[in-house]
Amino acid sequence: MSFNIKNSVFGLVAVLPLFASCGPSLAVDSSGSASGGATGGNFSRQTDYGVNLNIDFAGITDASAISPGEVLVIWADAMFIDEPSSSAGMRYIVFRGLTHQQPLQDSGIVGITDPGALTFTDNFSDLPPTDQLDNTTWYYSVVAIDSDEKISNNVEVSTARTPSEYAAGSMNFDDDVLPLFSSIANPTDPVENCLSCHSTGNAAGGMDLSTLEGILAGVGTPSNPDSFIIPFLGDDSFSQFVSRFTAGNLLDQNSAILNHLPYLAAPDGGTPVVSGDGLEDLRTPIRNWAFEGALPTPDSTPPVFEFADVNNAGLYYGEFTDFDTVRLYLPHATDPESIPVNGSIAGQIDYVVYAGTTSNTIDWDHPLLVKSLTVTEANQSFVRIDFDWVLSNDLVVIVRPMDAAGRSVDIDVTNYDSNDPTQLELFRLRMRNMSSQESEILISH
Ligand code: HEC
Repeated sequence: MSFNIKNSVFGLVAVLPLFASCGPSLAVDSSGSASGGATGGNFSRQTDYGVNLNIDFAGITDASAISPGEVLVIWADAMFIDEPSSSAGMRYIVFRGLTHQQPLQDSGIVGITDPGALTFTDNFSDLPPTDQLDNTTWYYSVVAIDSDEKISNNVEVSTARTPSEYAAGSMNFDDDVLPLFSSIANPTDPVENCLSCHSTGNAAGGMDLSTLEGILAGVGTPSNPDSFIIPFLGDDSFSQFVSRFTAGNLLDQNSAILNHLPYLAAPDGGTPVVSGDGLEDLRTPIRNWAFEGALPTPDSTPPVFEFADVNNAGLYYGEFTDFDTVRLYLPHATDPESIPVNGSIAGQIDYVVYAGTTSNTIDWDHPLLVKSLTVTEANQSFVRIDFDWVLSNDLVVIVRPMDAAGRSVDIDVTNYDSNDPTQLELFRLRMRNMSSQESEILISH
């Protein structure tokens, strides 16, 4: 039998009683997708396969990203009703799409499994290599197919969100920061540059700009730094720089402002500073390098939650603390490559929180919040995050740790226009270096 239901309420109502007598699948499916937040209307499968209503199958259980280009799809055994041993021979068809509807059509087929398989890893090998796979919400559906090439009538859809393609930070100390201090010359005396007064052994005011250690120690010491660079705080670092660079008064021979005056009265007219002036040329490199953690070399790995670590046992859950407040308890994520020289993990990792009334209604383009830890929070044994939730009694939360590599990108990820391709691309850049982990936290009132 060829079975084509068009998406009309009328059609669905008309055929429902028929299915109810033959098997549970469509009745269960349609209510399942409605409570799953399907966007209005009903969804039914459009297929040229014949349907075998004697197959008992619950459909897809879960789809989770395991990397920016791989998704793991999971389901449980199907069998012929009243014939449990039939499950071993059952094969499964996995469908994928970019909308809720696409995996409910034959054109969405990505593979047919071997008999008895209960998982499928989608590596998108059917798509051209140019296609963007990362930072994308993928919709999946699964049906069972019997040896007569007839399928179960399943319309459950699960989503997976691939994280942004991994990208190391953009700032390299030796290439992007260190040369600045020897290349910015005194406009009135081209032989002089910052290092004329700020090098090791000849560091005006104790400020050595010729090494990484010197810059991070600032006018303090390596173990007790006092520098204009504050790892992970880019804008603050640059404003610290400006205020220290212009400190003191012009009557004091040893003041920063007097010694730096030629650099402030820049070649193209001085104040206000514009690009081409010494000071302004430092803005972007200092800001972005500090934002990325003021590392010697860019961080090359995303952070992870070490769920297997015994110290993290029992963490990664959430609860309502009152009628509209949810509290999450998470392990600290780790990312050894991005610990700044001063060792503080405050600000090192952001925790990106996604939430939905079900896992399939999470709005992946709009994280609920992005949590950065204060110094105090970084020193606690677990991460605690509170947020308001009034949309439902039950919710699903996913938290992904993200390091600082994309922090120099200017976009407010909780409040931007995802319909604007430019802003969407900035969002993607900002979300790079996020862990792939897609572990769900189920929370009920
Ligand atoms: C002619 C010498 C001279 C030159 C050239 C010079 N500085 Fe300075 N710099 C000083 C003096 C003197 C101080 C003030 C020290 C003090 O307050 O004790 C200072 C202070 C600073 C401070 C403040 C340190 C702190 O944390 O309080 C920074 C930052 C700085 N300089 C950066 C630069 C940069 C960047 C350049 C090049 C664009 C530069 N300096 C060029 C002499 C110089």
